[in-house]
Amino acid sequence: MTSDAPPSRKGGHNQATQRPMSRRSASRNPPAAFDVEAARAAFPLIAKRPDLAYLDNAATTQKPSAVLDATRNHYETRNANVHRAAHGLSDAATAAFEAARQRVAQRINAASATEVVWTRGTTEGINLVAQSYADAVLREGDAVLVTEMEHHSNIVPWQIVCARRGAELRAARVTPEGCLDIEDFKAKLDGARIAAFCHVSNALGTVNAVRELTGLAKRAGATTVVDGAQAIPHYPVDVQELGCDFYAFSGHKAYGPTGIGALYGREALLEAMPPWQAGGEMIEEVRLEATTYAGLPFKFEAGTPNIAGAIGLAAAFDYLDGLDAEGLRRHEERLLAEATSGLLQIEGARVVGAARQKGPVLSFVIDGAHPQDIGTLLDQQGVAVRAGHHCAMPLMQRLGIGGTVRASFALYNSSADIERLVSAAHKAKTLL
Ligand code: ALA
Repeated sequence: MTSDAPPSRKGGHNQATQRPMSRRSASRNPPAAFDVEAARAAFPLIAKRPDLAYLDNAATTQKPSAVLDATRNHYETRNANVHRAAHGLSDAATAAFEAARQRVAQRINAASATEVVWTRGTTEGINLVAQSYADAVLREGDAVLVTEMEHHSNIVPWQIVCARRGAELRAARVTPEGCLDIEDFKAKLDGARIAAFCHVSNALGTVNAVRELTGLAKRAGATTVVDGAQAIPHYPVDVQELGCDFYAFSGHKAYGPTGIGALYGREALLEAMPPWQAGGEMIEEVRLEATTYAGLPFKFEAGTPNIAGAIGLAAAFDYLDGLDAEGLRRHEERLLAEATSGLLQIEGARVVGAARQKGPVLSFVIDGAHPQDIGTLLDQQGVAVRAGHHCAMPLMQRLGIGGTVRASFALYNSSADIERLVSAAHKAKTLL
């Protein structure tokens, strides 16, 4: 389904209550075989910068023309505020905005679009759960379980709410290979009300066994919150199959615009949660004495939302779903394998993170060289990577390192990009 599908009723809040189309009915044509040259041509920045090997995709991805066009088209043809005007332009904007929500619900297989709350991104989604759900349910002596491999955005919101509620924050251990210690996770679930963990580690690429973790948490009576930021661009995510209660992700890491993301929440949980930000749009009726709130998902969406961002995100999912998913997965796996074996040829280079299942993320260090210095020398040779702690300081502490150099791959990266990375890293090593 496209983001231009018409609404079921003019301008009404019930537009988000439609059930998403099934994955099968959403894809009209069989996807074409994955073609990296076509992919490169679809991304204006990549096409215009043959001098650059952009390998910082875990931080943010480039945008295909389809996303840029959808956003521009929105502003050029139907820009208006949503859900609150008595004119046709607003109806058109509302229709496109709610169709985008449907598109997101369909892509993650949410049971209903009412379970999809727009956010600014993964960080805001996790903060929403911490400040609304956790703040309401945590009691003194309860525990929240995270893991040592979390991004700061899946640690700090829990620290704040735990401190406020007198709850304990625990972290399940990570092994020296960068994998989650499942036995430790199991042991620390005892007494935990919430278990929050990443689907894919942003720093190492480790893919967690989400289905197993949600199963363990459920048996222990804990609600699960999954940080899906690094999974959404690379894997088909099915929130029902994963068995999670909440799943947060960002649009910009999956070829969509910045400033838009979504939080999936199980309907019964969202229904019971108090609002977290207040203002227009999230209300049903306001009196000076008291206010009643709008239904799902609007109760959590105070203020004018990022309308063009939502439409752009739907276009990104349309673009992704038009590709050969299996071919794309193999392409990204090949990039990781080529980069890993190339870097390991460098004397003193060590890959950090040896999980069997890894997303297309390669973290490495080179003996005697500071990651920031390597990052700068790579940049001078036209290779864009991230260097440092990757917003995962507790993970770096656990692994006994200050940071790494991280090359992270996307669908438009080619073997030539990997060759440039490896040869630039060789040169950096000789200069340091
Ligand atoms: N979370 C992003 C990263 O890992 C910014 O680089």
